[in-house]
Amino acid sequence: MTTETTPLSELAAATARRRTFAIISHPDAGKTTLTEKLLLYSGLIRTAGMVRGRKGGKTTASDWMGMEQERGISITASAMQFPYKNAVVNLLDTPGHQDFSEDTYRTLTAADSAIMVIDAAKGVETQTRKLFAVCRMRRIPVLTLINKMDLPGRQPLDLMTEVEQALSIHASAINWPIGSGSDFVGIVNRADSMVQLFSKTVRGGATRVETNTLPLAELGSHSRVSEEMLAQVQHDLELLEIAGNPFTRAQFLSGEVTPVFFASALTNFGVETFLDAFVDLAPSPGARPADREDGAEVSVNPIEMPFSAYVFKLQANMNPKHRDSTAFLRICSGRFERDMVVKHHRLGRDIRLARPHSLVAQERSTVEEAYPGDIIGIINPGVFAIGDTVSLTGGFNFKPLPQFQPEIFARLRPTDVGRRKAFDKGLSQMAQEGTVQIMRSLNDQEALIAAVGRLQFDVLQYRLRHEYRVETILDALPFTCSAWLDGDPSTFKSPSASMMVKDKRNRVVVLFGDQLMKTIARDRNPDHVLRDMG
Ligand code: G4P
Repeated sequence: MTTETTPLSELAAATARRRTFAIISHPDAGKTTLTEKLLLYSGLIRTAGMVRGRKGGKTTASDWMGMEQERGISITASAMQFPYKNAVVNLLDTPGHQDFSEDTYRTLTAADSAIMVIDAAKGVETQTRKLFAVCRMRRIPVLTLINKMDLPGRQPLDLMTEVEQALSIHASAINWPIGSGSDFVGIVNRADSMVQLFSKTVRGGATRVETNTLPLAELGSHSRVSEEMLAQVQHDLELLEIAGNPFTRAQFLSGEVTPVFFASALTNFGVETFLDAFVDLAPSPGARPADREDGAEVSVNPIEMPFSAYVFKLQANMNPKHRDSTAFLRICSGRFERDMVVKHHRLGRDIRLARPHSLVAQERSTVEEAYPGDIIGIINPGVFAIGDTVSLTGGFNFKPLPQFQPEIFARLRPTDVGRRKAFDKGLSQMAQEGTVQIMRSLNDQEALIAAVGRLQFDVLQYRLRHEYRVETILDALPFTCSAWLDGDPSTFKSPSASMMVKDKRNRVVVLFGDQLMKTIARDRNPDHVLRDMG
């Protein structure tokens, strides 16, 4: 069943072309640079260097909030759509600097695959680990790009081992670097033993790199490849043949193996090969699990089901004069048309999806139609909450979004007790939008706020001041991690410097002073389970 105007084949073809993905990485690994190169190689921009704006006052289209400009960072996480070869790519932005937040995690739930960018000198870092854990939980297949090969880095084989050990996944090298640091001159594609040698482009890889393709057997005769470099590549390739993991697309899609590529996003070495492999390997939108109103589990097929979508992110106040927010919806099935009237499942009423927009290469534009995998932004006059399902048919809800382990905690109160009502209203609005989580002590006497990143508290206080005219005092609490507790709280042996609270769904959460305390708590309470995601 589809809308009359869309023949099934057209919907199927549009869906098959979609690649909706996110980049997971630790700050500075090269996510922004790789994004730029995607735009460069898609032909959308002719010279790289336009997507900047995360640091140092250079602005992007998403810099909208006063505070963002003051800090020169981007708080907003949104999506960009552009064509890449035969694919239509939807890149979800996962903020990673100080603006790392629950939104970063939630955005991942809207992705069908992820690219993990790793700095060759640093290996697997904390934020990468955390984001990878979400991919694993959501069964999102991950491609690995070892970046900054033009700088002195660690041995490629070491990096492969680290990925495997730190993330408990098999890593399979699709290509292998020739030389490293200033001697990084090319890559060998392992499947057909063809080599790509790259020539340096203008500074910063602003234009496409010149590539010379030759068989591996001829590499020795090339002037830029020393005997040592050749010996090293041959040695590594032999070792990989014997001890490396095989690669199949099925194993990649099931999350058992991550294909590994080597590149320098800055100089463009290896970038195009990687992007081509990405669009070949990454899945198009598949079926999504949902709960029918009678409680039965169903699978929402992107092509067979008419339009359906869910809200994965709310972004406040594009215009500070209004309290409107933008709701970002991920389309899960069917064709979307502007001004479509759909069922809002939680509210049990029809709503019109008016003024939909998307970001195409950072330019906001109105969406006339969209397909599964696409992200649309809808002005939200307070009707959408995180996780809401909308559809043409009604009768089911996509699985609730998980809550992610908060890492910072505080008590918050209005400076003027007379503003208590406005304070409560603002706080509950922002909790609904997912800016912060509100938790209560087990006896309900006390409330506290929790978030994944420090900036969320700043956003909360800023918005309470500007939108609700409430000045607040924040007392930080000395906890740095938390976990949802499965099991009887009365028999849970709490370590020192910990506290038990309840989340909005009345589930018990334990707050810990540090990671060590959490580990001790796990050891001491073998009959309880401490979960990082709720
Ligand atoms: P992020 O979004 O993951 O935080 O990283 P981003 O792309 O901003 O890259 C962080 C820094 O690393 C930038 O330098 C960028 O130019 C550099 N970089 C990214 N990829 C490569 C690479 O393959 N090789 C080398 N040598 N450098 C790379 P910056 O000096 O901090 O910023 P900028 O002044 O270049 O903007």
